[in-house]
Amino acid sequence: MKNSLAAFAALAVLTTGCAPDTPKTPETASPPPVTIVIHGGAGALAPGRYTPAKEAEFIAKLNEALDVGYAILDEGGAALDAVEAAIVTMEDSPLFNSGKGAVFTREGKNELDASIMDGATLNAGAVTGVTTVKNPIRLARSVMEDSVHVMFAGNGADEFAEQQGHEIVDPEYFYTEHRWKSYEEALEREKQQEDSALPIDFKYGTVGAVALDAEGNLAAGTSTGGMTLKNFGRVGDTPIIGAGTFADNKSCAVSSTGHGEYFIRLTIARDICAQVEYADKTVEDAATDVIHGRLETLGGGGGVIVLGADGAFAMVFNTDGMFRGAKSATGVNTTAIYGD
Ligand code: GLY
Repeated sequence: MKNSLAAFAALAVLTTGCAPDTPKTPETASPPPVTIVIHGGAGALAPGRYTPAKEAEFIAKLNEALDVGYAILDEGGAALDAVEAAIVTMEDSPLFNSGKGAVFTREGKNELDASIMDGATLNAGAVTGVTTVKNPIRLARSVMEDSVHVMFAGNGADEFAEQQGHEIVDPEYFYTEHRWKSYEEALEREKQQEDSALPIDFKYGTVGAVALDAEGNLAAGTSTGGMTLKNFGRVGDTPIIGAGTFADNKSCAVSSTGHGEYFIRLTIARDICAQVEYADKTVEDAATDVIHGRLETLGGGGGVIVLGADGAFAMVFNTDGMFRGAKSATGVNTTAIYGD
């Protein structure tokens, strides 16, 4: 299902007059419209799924994350800082499957993944399977900036966090009653069905952000608790650069949400940016091809947010809905949960 808000992407292009093919000279080029786009996970989000009060809670938190990120861009801050700040806001909320609201593994634990990428340098950082770090997205950034590596896993990632002075919490911090209930329901459902085909409610949900700053730099980041009942050592797409996250100033920035195994097999984030860079596609067309074409053909579900170097953006998903929002210097300021 293509999101009608993608029309705003076209609006952004029209408003700024800087479509990808528009030739620019140093004299006439206007600064890019600072923009942030976020998601809070895709899934079985049909209208009526939540009470109006719960919907309002989700929308308020999405707006808070957008505002926090946009304020940084508006003051001339870096896309990386905006992405990190927006994601921290969602990680700290029990509403989303990341940080405080993370789902439970088969062993009844919370194991967190995150990644971040700088479109200016192609530097990237990622962590997987962390259990004691309050904000995994901050740790991913620290891997990028404070180590010579791209990814740390498990105990090593937690140890690196301690070394770098990140906020460490007792694993109990990540417990939430609603996620524990989902965990118990998932176990029960599995027993009854005698297979492991969980409905998408248990499979999806992640947070992410992409941003474009006044210097024309793109950044992308993604953070998740993964999937309910994920097996020991399972790694999803979120910490995989090119699958869950990708950013390159030459093309676009992408953050994914969905059934990670499919996103890894299709290197979805990189594929979208490659289509923009090599096939000269719009971000909307590239995202639509990958989500409604390649992903659906394989039988996968989920969505992406994509932001181009010109400020055009797309929010595309093949699930019932996707928590999402965008705010831009062109006047776009929108959030939504459900599909068209
Ligand atoms: N997309 C999140 C995961 O599969 O872990």
